[in-house]
Amino acid sequence: MSARPQRAIRGRLLTFVDDPAEVGERACHHYLEDGLVVVEDGRIARVGEAPALLAELAPDVPVDHHSEALVLPGFIDPHIHYPQTQVLASYGAQLLDWLEGHTFVEEEKFADPAHAARVAGFFLDELMRNGTTTAAVYCTVHPDSVDAFFAESMARNSRMVAGKVLMDRNAPAALLDTTQRAYDESKALIARWHGRGRQHYAITPRFAVTSTPAQLDAAGTLATEHPDAYVQTHLAENRREIETVASLFPEARSYTDVYDRHGLLGPRSLFGHCIHLAEAERARLSETGSVAVFCPTSNLFLGSGLFDLERMRDPDAPIRTAIATDVGAGTSYSMLRTAGEAYKVVQLGGANLSPLTAFYMLTLGNARALSLDAHIGALRPGRDADIVVLDARATPAMAHRMETIEDLSDELFVLMTLGDDRSVRATYVAGERLHSREDALSSF
Ligand code: GUN
Ligand code: ZN
Repeated sequence: MSARPQRAIRGRLLTFVDDPAEVGERACHHYLEDGLVVVEDGRIARVGEAPALLAELAPDVPVDHHSEALVLPGFIDPHIHYPQTQVLASYGAQLLDWLEGHTFVEEEKFADPAHAARVAGFFLDELMRNGTTTAAVYCTVHPDSVDAFFAESMARNSRMVAGKVLMDRNAPAALLDTTQRAYDESKALIARWHGRGRQHYAITPRFAVTSTPAQLDAAGTLATEHPDAYVQTHLAENRREIETVASLFPEARSYTDVYDRHGLLGPRSLFGHCIHLAEAERARLSETGSVAVFCPTSNLFLGSGLFDLERMRDPDAPIRTAIATDVGAGTSYSMLRTAGEAYKVVQLGGANLSPLTAFYMLTLGNARALSLDAHIGALRPGRDADIVVLDARATPAMAHRMETIEDLSDELFVLMTLGDDRSVRATYVAGERLHSREDALSSF
């Protein structure tokens, strides 16, 4: 028996087919003024002009009409910390003091599985409210925190990447594991979660400051043993952090070289921040296909520095890039806000981040960075039906500004400059509507 359509979503469809930097702004996207996405068994079955597809649809298939709104693939956030929902908006410190004074204190609470489950549920709901359907997520050192997270993700049928943080030095005793425990617990978690439903595992040494060389070796061994798992960590975020790494690893040529020596560079490795890099480090990131993750609200909030997006695109040594929130050093769950702040950071470097480039990055670009573009990041038949519906008139200021826009690019720029969760009208995960702004408002 063939699968039956379960739902259709009508609106102004926008999806990217390639990087605007490669193919230009005109060829990078497809736009349909009155389009329809037909969902079957959690996947996109058909995409096309609404009138033609509606005529062929069985009459009992429910259709959600979002006529004025833009329908895009769900946003992807490739660097975020779920245990930091109550670290967000912590005053007055740069990276190392912020970690010690605010972050580690909160992460200790995740020894309690009930706390972890409650926060994981809140966190995933908050992502959906912001139109984010996939994220690469740091848990804490406690394996239970990973179980809690993946269990909540499974309950929502969302596609998530996550892993247990590894730390065996320079953190409070309650947050330390050992080299052996890091290996054994990660191994068990990979066996339990990687490839189960839509879940993916990330081997997660927090950063070089909190891991011994032996622990980084164990992480490298895990990466070799599980080549389709991810590696996620932090790199070259803050000057004091970099000095600390230099003193802890005197034999290494650079911060990047620390990870390189332990086999942690590669196309499935996600490096948060990458702000202060020397030429040789850029060359190695480029050669290995590693991903540099730009976290603008975090970098501004912690005063870490300015990510050089233009430089990452150097044709002689291009580095794969992604863009992310990094909550709770990042100050918003919204990928719209994140794109807006990215624009300002790029401006400070004397360049521009075009609206089409920004929305490419939030969707297909981030999917490619995670090597998940066969599943997510585009409105195409066969892709998962993870979808966000955006309203560029969500506030009076936005509606007023929208009176004078001239084209789709202008509308996207209004969304990324003025938009946030209020612009997210609905979010679908594997074809199920997990967030509706109308329902959320009427429940107040
Ligand atoms: N470096 C090591 N841990 C962290 C973290 O939790 N957040 C940020 N922004 N940087 C880090
Ligand atoms: Zn981070």
